[in-house]
Amino acid sequence: MNSITHYLHNELPRINAFLEAQTARLDPVVRPAAEHVLGAGGKRLRPLLALVAARALGCTADPYPMACSLELLHSATLLHDDILDAAVMRRGRAATHVEFGRTGTILAGDVLLALANRLVADYDIPRLNAVLSEAILRTVTGEVMEIANVRNTAMSEERYYEIITGKTAYLFQGACECGAILAGCGAATERAAHDYGLNLGIAFQLVDDALDYVSPSEITGKPSGGDLREGKMTLPLILYLRTLPPDARQKLETRIAQDDLDAEAARAIADRVAASGCAEATRDAARGYATLAAQALEAFPASPERDLMADMLDLVLSRNK
Ligand code: FPP
Ligand code: MG
Repeated sequence: MNSITHYLHNELPRINAFLEAQTARLDPVVRPAAEHVLGAGGKRLRPLLALVAARALGCTADPYPMACSLELLHSATLLHDDILDAAVMRRGRAATHVEFGRTGTILAGDVLLALANRLVADYDIPRLNAVLSEAILRTVTGEVMEIANVRNTAMSEERYYEIITGKTAYLFQGACECGAILAGCGAATERAAHDYGLNLGIAFQLVDDALDYVSPSEITGKPSGGDLREGKMTLPLILYLRTLPPDARQKLETRIAQDDLDAEAARAIADRVAASGCAEATRDAARGYATLAAQALEAFPASPERDLMADMLDLVLSRNK
C-alpha cells in the first residue's frame, strides 16, 4: 500500500461516518437513493483531496464537513448523470434510478446538492460558498455542453477539453481551493491549490475516458465501450477517427451520428480504438496535465501532506478503474 492509499484507508472511516450521519437524517423519500449512491464504494478522492490540501496549508478548523460536501456534490451529479445517460450500472451495481426509480433519484440528487451547500455555509466563510457554487455552475455547464455535442462527430479537441474541464475538473479544483480557503493560506497558495486541482481533474477525466476503451467492465463497474454507445466524443475516439482513411472515417462518423451501433458493433470498434494506441495517447495527455499539477504544488510549503498530493497524481495516472 503506498502512502496515499494508506492515508485514505485511515481517513475512510471518518469520511464514511460523516456521510452516513448526514444521509441518516434525510427524508425516507430520498434516503434509499442517497444511501445507495454513497454506499457503493466510491473512491472518495474529492473529500480526500480537500482534506490533504487543507492540512498541507495548515488548516486548524474541522475540515470534514467541507471535505464531505464535495462527496455529496459528486454523488448528486452521478445520480443525475446516470438518468441523463440512461446508464444502468454504476460501481458494479444497478444504477440508483434503476433500483429506486427516477423520482426518488432526481430528488435525492437535489437534496445532496442542497446539503453540500449548507454544510459549507455553516463555516460562515462566504468565499467558500462562492468557490463551491462557481464549481457547481461550471460542472453543470460542462454537462450541458457534453449533451449538446452528443453524436457531433465534427466536435473539436478544444471543445472536448472544455467539456471535461467543466464536468469533472472544476469539482477537483473546488475541493483543493476550499481546502486552501479554510486553511487561510493567502492568495498565492490558494491559486496554486486551484491550479493543482484543475490539472489533476483534467488528468483524472482523460484517464477515465481512456479506461472506457481499455478496462473490462468487471474492473470499472461500468459497461465497457459505454461512451461510444452513448455517442460521447471523447479523446480516444477523436484521435482514432483521425487515423482512418477518409472513406472509413466517413462511414464510422455516419454510424455514430445516426446511432447505428448495436452493443456488439460498439464493442468491436472499441477494441479497435484500444488497439490503435489512441487510448494510450489519451493517457499520455493525462501525464502532461499531471506534470502541470506537480508544478503547481511547488508553491506549497514542504509537508507530508504535500508529498501525499504528489502521490495522488500517480494514483490518478495509474488507476485501472
Ligand atoms: C460523469 O461523466 C458526470 C459528471 C462528471 C458530471 C455530471 C453533471 C451533471 C449531471 C450536472 C450537475 C448536477 C448536479 C446535481 C450539480 P461521465 O458520464 O462521462 O462518466 P461515467 O462514465 O462515470 O458516467
Ligand atoms: Mg455517465
